[in-house]
Amino acid sequence: DELTRVERFDALVAAEEKVEPADWMPEAYRKGLIRQIAQHAHSEIIGMQPEGSWITRAPSLKRKAILLAKVQDEAGHGLYLYAAAETLGITRDELVDALLTKRQKYSSIFNYPTLSWADIGAIGWLVDGAAIVNQVPLCRCSYGPYARAMVRICKEESFHQRQGYELLHTLAHGTAAQHAMAQDALDRWWYPSLAMFGPPDAESTHSARSIQWKIKRFSNDELRQRFVDMCVPQAAVLGLRIPDDGLRWNPDRGAHDFTPPDFDELTRVINGDGPCNAERMAHRRAAHDDGAWVREAAAAYARKQAR
Ligand code: ACO
Repeated sequence: DELTRVERFDALVAAEEKVEPADWMPEAYRKGLIRQIAQHAHSEIIGMQPEGSWITRAPSLKRKAILLAKVQDEAGHGLYLYAAAETLGITRDELVDALLTKRQKYSSIFNYPTLSWADIGAIGWLVDGAAIVNQVPLCRCSYGPYARAMVRICKEESFHQRQGYELLHTLAHGTAAQHAMAQDALDRWWYPSLAMFGPPDAESTHSARSIQWKIKRFSNDELRQRFVDMCVPQAAVLGLRIPDDGLRWNPDRGAHDFTPPDFDELTRVINGDGPCNAERMAHRRAAHDDGAWVREAAAAYARKQAR
C-alpha cells in the first residue's frame, strides 16, 4: 500500500542507496528529476553554441582541434542526460519539444555572447568550473542513472576546465593586448558564472525538497561560496583581477566575502530576456528542423530492421 511504499522509498534514500528506474518513487520525485535532468541536458546542447561559433576562428590548428573535441563532448553530455531522463518515462521527442516550446529551461549562462577568443578560456575556467562545483555532488544524487552519468561528465568537465584555464593563462601571460583581452573576458563572465548556481537559498523553489530527497546535496548559496573560494587563488596565478571590490577573505567565516550577482538580471535572462536568448533558440530550432531527415531515415531503417 501507499504508506509502506513511501516508507520504503524514504528508507532507501536515507540509507544512501540508489533509486533505480523500475523502483516505485513518489510522483513529485519523478517530476522534479525530469525537470532538473532535462534542464541540464538542454544546457549542454544549447551550450555548444557560444563556443561552437569560435571553432572556425580558433587561432591555431591545435586550439581548433581542442575546441572541436570539447564541443563534441558537450553534445555527448546532452545525449547521456536525455537518456537518463528517458528512464523516468518521458521520451526524447517530448523533451526536445518542451525545450523548443519553452516549457523547459536551460542554463542562463548560455545566453551571453562570446565576443573574443579569451571568452573561450573564460568559459572553460569559469563556466565549466562552476559546472563541476555544482555537479560533483550530483554524483551522489539518489537517482542512480543521473548519478552515474555525472561521474563521466564530471571527469570530462574537469578536463574542459583545465583547457580553458591553460588557454587563459597563455593569454594572460602574453602581450599586453592579450592580457587585456583575458581580463575583459573575466570582467564579463564573472557575475553570470556566479548566477549559474541559481537564486539565493531563500528564493529557491526546489532546494528544500530536492535536498530532502538527495537530488541536490548542497544549496545554491553553499555551492556559489565554494566556487568563489576556489577561483580566488586561481585568478591570482593567472595575474587577473576578479571584478569585485567587495571581495575579501573573512577569517571568521573561513571563506571569502563577495558581492552577489544581480539576481534581477538572472530572472530576466531565465525568462527569455538575456542578450542571446532569441538567437540561441532560433539556432536550436533551425538545427532541429534541418535534422528532420536524419530522424526520418533512422526511423525508416529501424522499421526495416525490425521487419
Ligand atoms: N539558469 C536557468 N534557470 C535557472 C538557473 C539558471 N542558472 N538557476 C535556477 N533556475 C531556475 C530553476 O530551474 C527553477 O525554475 P523551474 O521551477 O521553472 O525549473 C527556478 O529557477 C528556481 O530555482 P531553484 O529552485 O533553485 O532550482 P533548482 O533547485 O533546480 O536549482 C540548479 C537550480 C542549481 C541549476 C539545479 O537545477 C542543478 O543543480 N541542475 C543541474 C546542473 C545543471 O543543470 N547545470 C547546467 C549548466 S552547466 C553546463 O551545462 C555546462
